[in-house]
Amino acid sequence: MVRRAAEAGYEAAPNIALVKYWGVRDEALGLPYNSSLSVTLDKLRTRTRVRFDPALPGDQFVLNGAPQSGGPAHSVTEFLDEVRAIARIETPAFVRSENNFQTASGLASSASGFAALAGAASLAAGLKLPPAALSRLARLGSGSACRSLFGGFVEWRAGSRPDGRDCFARPLHPASHWPSLVDLVAIIADAPTKPVRSAVAMQRTVATSPEYARRLREVPARIRAMKRAVSVRDAPALFDLTMVECDSFRLVCETTDPPLDYLVPASRAVLAAVRSTNTEAGATIAGYTHDAGAHVHVFTTRRYARSLRRRLASVAGVEKVLALSPGPGGHPIRVVGR
Ligand code: PMV
Repeated sequence: MVRRAAEAGYEAAPNIALVKYWGVRDEALGLPYNSSLSVTLDKLRTRTRVRFDPALPGDQFVLNGAPQSGGPAHSVTEFLDEVRAIARIETPAFVRSENNFQTASGLASSASGFAALAGAASLAAGLKLPPAALSRLARLGSGSACRSLFGGFVEWRAGSRPDGRDCFARPLHPASHWPSLVDLVAIIADAPTKPVRSAVAMQRTVATSPEYARRLREVPARIRAMKRAVSVRDAPALFDLTMVECDSFRLVCETTDPPLDYLVPASRAVLAAVRSTNTEAGATIAGYTHDAGAHVHVFTTRRYARSLRRRLASVAGVEKVLALSPGPGGHPIRVVGR
């Protein structure tokens, strides 16, 4: 039992998967069928403070200044239970979290959110977890969160052990490895909120998509090729692989029964604009990807970023285009005041 209030803070950023995680072989432990690869982004971030306090009547979760109940509060309590089990405490916690971007907007707030919560809660509980253990912990909140603890280019190895001990993310290259890489995020106006949680949707794909088995066979070679492209900073190879992977992800979603269609006409127009840009350039100067949402991430290099940003911003239905770069991993932050 924590007898006195113990508080800690942690900051983490969203990541965008270049090779997607979609489907788990163990739902309780969140063990994926395939490994995945991502880039942690700069500028966007979640800041979370956790205080274990024996005087509290129960867990409390305040998100962007608003006290939460129902689903979000329940997920936080479930996650805190994991931390309490490791730390062998039963103390309730006060959690205050702030995103500097729109929550649940398809910008991976669950990845940065659970990475920040894992960092803050484990520190506040007096645990000094090594990176792999912290990544395993974050995975229990949201799969993609295990990658957001690290900066730059990150690989989440699926592992093969039934207990998940070999299932965690590790950094491949820091953000400084490829500073000229730009992620233009086309924010789609009035993007619909997800009708089904990703954790549920992906299991429908596993159970019903006739394309899923082929995808699983293809992914390991794609990861190897992508790691090679990233290590030598081969932009055209990376962009081609990113689009092939995104199309494979979209295909298994669209062939799920009932179909999962995350895009809206404006998102599809962004994909078309990227294809035309490459055709006109006579080379692959940009590559698109998207997650389970309508916004589209377009990777390019600094040389082409300004003109491509203008082109994407002019697509009907695009509200704005963020220009992001590879960013730092999660880290503790100082907590001041209550
Ligand atoms: O981390 P979750 O459970 O929200 O699922 C994320 C799934 C994708 O974003 C579509 C892919 C990924 O690897 O991030």
